[in-house]
Amino acid sequence: MALLELDNVTKIFGGLVAVDSLSISIEKGMIYGIIGPNGAGKTTVFNCITGVYKPERGKIIFKGKDITGLSPHRIANMGITRTFQTIRLFNEMSVAENIMSGRHFKSRQKWWHGIIHTPFYYKDEKENWLKVKEYMDLFGLTHLAKMTAGSQPYGIQRKIEMARALATEPELLILDEPAAGLNDKERLELVDTIKKIRDMGVTILLIEHNMDLVMNITEYISVLNFGKKIAEGKPEDIQNNPVVIEAYLGKEEEDE
Ligand SMILES: Nc1ncnc2c1ncn2[C@@H]1O[C@H](COP(=O)(O)OP(=O)(O)OP(=O)(O)O)[C@@H](O)[C@H]1O
Ligand SMILES: [Mg+2]
Repeated sequence: MALLELDNVTKIFGGLVAVDSLSISIEKGMIYGIIGPNGAGKTTVFNCITGVYKPERGKIIFKGKDITGLSPHRIANMGITRTFQTIRLFNEMSVAENIMSGRHFKSRQKWWHGIIHTPFYYKDEKENWLKVKEYMDLFGLTHLAKMTAGSQPYGIQRKIEMARALATEPELLILDEPAAGLNDKERLELVDTIKKIRDMGVTILLIEHNMDLVMNITEYISVLNFGKKIAEGKPEDIQNNPVVIEAYLGKEEEDE
């Protein structure tokens, strides 16, 4: 059974069919890429999966359960976490607190544990901070723990965002253009980090415009154009697919 399955998902905005009968199947443990030109419908697919939009037609199945149209909160609780195309952090909070907010999202604490500090509260908080430390180490953020997130350079903010997403302990991590705005060095680090996350047992679904990164890291790719899947396959097949070259790479040349 696939971890995530989209079955003929269609999302329409007014007259615009942003996602058009899209079917994809993502196996547990893989790094799956969605690529396509600007406006192809990639982010809209993510918004449908995470419950931001309800598709007009089709089904989204996660771990065998139909999650179509559930609230973002319920979907997140089931084990799907995302990062956004534009960074969304608590700028005034420290790096560590930002990552901790991912822990609190899935905490088993009840609200009164924060007022009447029960033994469970202290134990749970301690475990949470140990986890936060683990994620800061993984992303090389430990030395920045007390700094405010908003004062960090772009590449670091991307890492904080990913660490926070990972702190929710998702089964499926969805990354919308994680390499956007990164320099070459940061991009190489990102490749490493994504592979480490996958090795922790997390399945990864990502949108990315940077072709080097996509071809280097993903095991399977679907290509969207005008909301439709025009190709799918292994990176090496996608790279040489004339339909893809025309739709996607062709357009990129135009843009340059
Ligand atoms: N909330 C919305 N209301 C109306 N139209 C929308 C909405 N969100 C997206 N669209 C439209 O749907 C289409 C797909 O947009 P989407 O953001 O999914 O593309 P994308 O593939 O993520 O593009 P990019 O690579 O630029 O991020 C676009 O034509 C966009 O203008
Ligand atoms: Mg997008």
